[in-house]
Amino acid sequence: MTQSTPISLDNGGKSSDVVLDVDNLTVEFPTDDGVVQAVRGVSYQLRPGESMGIVGESGSGKSVTSMAIMGLLPRTARIKGSVKLHGQELVGRSERAYTELRGNKIAMIFQDPLTSLNPVYTVGVQIGEAIQAHNDISKKAARDRSIELLKMVGIPYPEQRVDNYPHEMSGGMRQRVVIAIAMANKPDVIIADEPTTALDVTVQAQVLEALEAAREETGAAMVLITHDLGIIAGHADRVCVMYAGKLVEKGTIDDVFYQPRMPYSLGLLGSLPRLDETGRERLTPIVGSPPSLLNLPPGCPFTPRCPLAQDICEREEPDLFVTDSAAHVAACHFHERLVGITSADLFGTTSIDTEDLTVADIDPDLIGPAAVVHEQDHAGDDTTGTPDLAKKESS
Ligand SMILES: Nc1ncnc2c1ncn2[C@@H]1O[C@H](COP(=O)(O)OP(=O)(O)O)[C@@H](O)[C@H]1O
Ligand code: SF4
Ligand SMILES: [Mg+2]
Repeated sequence: MTQSTPISLDNGGKSSDVVLDVDNLTVEFPTDDGVVQAVRGVSYQLRPGESMGIVGESGSGKSVTSMAIMGLLPRTARIKGSVKLHGQELVGRSERAYTELRGNKIAMIFQDPLTSLNPVYTVGVQIGEAIQAHNDISKKAARDRSIELLKMVGIPYPEQRVDNYPHEMSGGMRQRVVIAIAMANKPDVIIADEPTTALDVTVQAQVLEALEAAREETGAAMVLITHDLGIIAGHADRVCVMYAGKLVEKGTIDDVFYQPRMPYSLGLLGSLPRLDETGRERLTPIVGSPPSLLNLPPGCPFTPRCPLAQDICEREEPDLFVTDSAAHVAACHFHERLVGITSADLFGTTSIDTEDLTVADIDPDLIGPAAVVHEQDHAGDDTTGTPDLAKKESS
């Protein structure tokens, strides 16, 4: 059993320069079939200009967390905990108070730009309206500022493009217009929810650059939500990994990318395509799927997919434990065992080139013992752990 202490604060609890403070945020949706526990005690803090990535599979609660912060959830949602912007509580505020904040102090960028843009107005009119909603300036000044903003997000020929309708632009350009709207009033916080998911890879890079421009121009703190850990690497200072409605690991990019301490994070890292020395793509997929958030069973929700799982994992859900530094926390009873372990050690590897190989053909030195365990699993063996790692529990 681990000796670490659970904590609830980021970065050692320093809070004086915090712009957004999310503390033990919980969101439940009562339904006919039971209660959906969409967000379960999420806490994080953001400082001005900081970018934080939130990563996790679909359905892990990333969007619901952000919608709760923005006051955009349906009335049926039961929200508990606290969301403070510059020390001011947002949870429980009226819709009118949220309308004042949205687009002004906090802006959100959604996956599909067409949900944010009105098809019957030019982009210039829409950016101008966003500015005029919170500022007493002339139409001409708003138009000039719109052109300036379009330029900042990398739209070519902004003087002409300002008069385009959304349908006259590509998906990537439309998303950059949405970013221009988000930055128009210099918000303190920008939340970008899967902003590049609908776009192809080359366009993704342009949109991420536009987000960087928005952060630089506004000085806003940014939350960058994605299911792709690869996107986080170059565009966030810190990262939170979400699983089954909870933050399961939180730390700097270096912490989580180079010293992950939660098996799920390790699995996500292993699922990033990379090339081995022969130029073949290698992956370490996490077998199985996330649990339903309806009537969640007790224990660690990653148990059925975790090669390290022990009896305690089925009984007790782990807190966030401090790992190698106060700012690096992980929700795993056995986080200490992950020191020096690769995702291939834990989950094994598959690749287009190795999927036809038998267990005996795979070099265990190259892929680690867990791969063999998984191959046996597929063959119907009832093995559930990585023997070399799991047996340390009794020590
Ligand atoms: N209005 C709602 N009513 C019931 N369940 C919901 C509602 N909105 C979201 N959920 C559920 O909350 C969970 C988290 O969803 P979401 O935050 O959208 O996931 P993510 O953004 O990580 O893909 C999912 O199980 C989803 O089905
Ligand atoms: S070892 Fe246990 S606590 Fe840690 S992630 Fe696996 S199932 Fe969860
Ligand atoms: Mg989502």
